[in-house]
Amino acid sequence: MNTIHVPTGRPYDVCIRAGSLPELGEKLVTMGRRGTVAVISDDTVFPLYGETLCRSLAQAGFRVVCHIIPAGEEHKNLTVYAQVLEFLAREHLTRSDLLAALGGGVVGDLTGFAAATYLRGLDYIQIPTTLLSAVDSSVGGKTAVDLSVGKNLAGAFHQPSLVWCDPALLSSLPEAVFRDGCAEVIKYGLLGDAAFFQSLGELPIRQQLERVITRCVEMKRDIVADDELDRGRRQLLNLGHTFGHAMESCSGYQLSHGQCVAMGMALITRAAAAMGLCPASLPGEVEALLISYGLPTSVPFGAEELAQAALSDKKRSGARLHLVVPHDLGDCRLVDVPADGLLPWLRGGGAA
Ligand code: GLY
Repeated sequence: MNTIHVPTGRPYDVCIRAGSLPELGEKLVTMGRRGTVAVISDDTVFPLYGETLCRSLAQAGFRVVCHIIPAGEEHKNLTVYAQVLEFLAREHLTRSDLLAALGGGVVGDLTGFAAATYLRGLDYIQIPTTLLSAVDSSVGGKTAVDLSVGKNLAGAFHQPSLVWCDPALLSSLPEAVFRDGCAEVIKYGLLGDAAFFQSLGELPIRQQLERVITRCVEMKRDIVADDELDRGRRQLLNLGHTFGHAMESCSGYQLSHGQCVAMGMALITRAAAAMGLCPASLPGEVEALLISYGLPTSVPFGAEELAQAALSDKKRSGARLHLVVPHDLGDCRLVDVPADGLLPWLRGGGAA
């Protein structure tokens, strides 16, 4: 078992090992937990792994109740969130009980937000079932639901009590969903570890899942421990996301998050090279790795429309944006850009 301790205000462990889901109940007992576990999952994941999870919890002596939401980002909303709260109340969950999020980012974010707010806060654990949630959203305590005007606009920082990652659960992922997670993995290499970046080109991520997830979580741990509330260094995790989110919006959410993060990373690396901030060879290296994982790198939107979409994103702080700019492999830095200063970056990065 690879165990990564995350030393936030409420510290916790991320435990990673293929085949470990049946052992989760016993793990919770060793952590001193008892009472009820409310499993929140979706109608794609629960039929695959719900029974194994519930059996493990019941055999360890927990009362287990389950609430299944429809799969898909469109259900990460206030209505489904309210239904989760009503369910917890009907099942008489108390503050000493536990929520368990079995699923990807939608289930994890929504369950975390329910845990942050039900009875003014109770504990929850994350059991990620996508690569993206394993390497990113299950760790760090960002919880949220979407509002009609934008994504993740209602949320809270609420760290989980445990992240239990069984990479065997990722084997059922559709290729396109797995690929989305690969974009986030490549992001970590470009962000902070050149050797890790190179290793992703030498051996496919699927063939080194435990190592890859562990390394990404270690990097996220270091950043989150330093800046739990996302006021500074944590914004580095937005590498490729500022323009990536803008592309998602410009596509009417027809392009996936991973595809847009890939294009966002490629764009900002090309822009950095055009401005002489990173080696001229870096965009080619980044693009080659993204393409080898089936991810897109050229940008099908104009600079003006992307700038407008980026400015309406919630990460805009006042009249300035924080771009994450590659200076070399494994060395990215935050650059403060005024709202009217985006176009040179977008044009330098290849947007028409
Ligand atoms: N997903 C970025 C963060 O946790 O800050």
